[in-house]
Amino acid sequence: MAEIEKKPVKIVETVLRDAHQSLLATRMSTEQMMPIVEKMDQVGYYAVECWGGATFDSCLRFLKEDPWERLRKLRDGFKNTKLQMLFRGQNILGYNHYADDVVEYFVQKSIANGIDIIRIFDCLNDIRNLETAVKATRKEKGHAQIALCYTLGDAYTLDYWRDIAKRIEDMGADSLCIKDMAGLLTPYAADELVHALKEGTTLPIDLHTHYTSGVASMTYLKAVEAGCDIIDCAMSPLALGTSQPATEVMVETFRGTPYDTGYDLKLLAEIAEYFRPIREEALASGLLNPKVLGVNIKTLQYQVPGGMLSNLVSQLKEAGQEDKYMDVLEEIPRVRKDFGEPPLVTPSSQIVGTQAVMNVISGERYKLVPKESKKIMMGEFGQTVKPFNAEVQKKIIGDATPITCRPADLLEPQLPKFEKECAQWKQQDEDVLSYALFPAVAKDFFQYREAQQTKVDQTAADKDSKAYPV
Ligand code: CO
Repeated sequence: MAEIEKKPVKIVETVLRDAHQSLLATRMSTEQMMPIVEKMDQVGYYAVECWGGATFDSCLRFLKEDPWERLRKLRDGFKNTKLQMLFRGQNILGYNHYADDVVEYFVQKSIANGIDIIRIFDCLNDIRNLETAVKATRKEKGHAQIALCYTLGDAYTLDYWRDIAKRIEDMGADSLCIKDMAGLLTPYAADELVHALKEGTTLPIDLHTHYTSGVASMTYLKAVEAGCDIIDCAMSPLALGTSQPATEVMVETFRGTPYDTGYDLKLLAEIAEYFRPIREEALASGLLNPKVLGVNIKTLQYQVPGGMLSNLVSQLKEAGQEDKYMDVLEEIPRVRKDFGEPPLVTPSSQIVGTQAVMNVISGERYKLVPKESKKIMMGEFGQTVKPFNAEVQKKIIGDATPITCRPADLLEPQLPKFEKECAQWKQQDEDVLSYALFPAVAKDFFQYREAQQTKVDQTAADKDSKAYPV
């Protein structure tokens, strides 16, 4: 009997990054992660996504942890598994465009501290905004994965995806990820999409989706059958809802097929046991809202990411206009069209969402215009796949001339300035990068760190004076 060709699907485990970012407001601490790392390291995951995205900000702001220290600890613990991070192109992990020197230095330090794979994306899929990070990753001998934000709209045809996949390969990426942050990719569309991508590129293809709309595990099944090489999953206690499909479920789905991962289910079950109390605790404290665990069909209906929907609710609540929710949902696609039909992902999702709220609340479209809307219309985030609505652009920026080059081409090197500004708190090279991304938050953290160290020194001194009375 002829052997069926084996093509085990590779799994990226997201429980230490996207899963808790999606379900637990990014609040999992390093202390909660470390006890299970040794077991996770035995699974045979293709990679563990454990850094970047919102974890950096959350470490400094809420957990009072040094994100670099977290990375070093994870690197120490994961002796056999590749570590992956999420990197927002020229925004790095922040919300503005940074000069190339900051992007390059961040990549260098990420890899030096233990990252193997850098997943790089741009909220407009403007690949010029990825160039510096991709080049820097390759220079540091890291794996540069380019992620394209998946979205729907007139511009996003199979030809679009096929072409951009080819351009990404030409840029020197090591793999390609389809980043479906809203869970919009349905199973049969995934089949078509993967086939189209495979026509455009020979790069390995990774599919990243969220369970928000309830179709995600079926989407993975169809995608893998179509030739998708890597899927992103989360251990079951922190899977589903706005997170990823469950690792154990996908592993068992493919058991005994050519896509069999060969992972040990008993080991996975032990790892799941470890995370279960973290889920229970989060449910009890309200950190994990049961609402995000169900199927949110509005994401398919309005093509809006789940996180954006909850932001809208709170913005409207603040304005005392919760009854305008449906109006805003209908306004979003209009604003998106006016803004060149970008994917909706941080930060474009916030910009489009906030503008839609303003349009509805003020009763006149583009009467109130936040600074970020102006920036997008000035070309300061890069190029959108479709042109802006010229009339709206004129109303927002008047006679100003928008830029058409890669936005970072206009930025002078920034590191020397950041070095100077944070010199008084600096304890390691990496501190300047924390400061560059989140100046106020990093400063607070540095002061907290110093205070803690003084406390420790004082305690030690007290102890010493007791031990050696003079
Ligand atoms: Co995600």
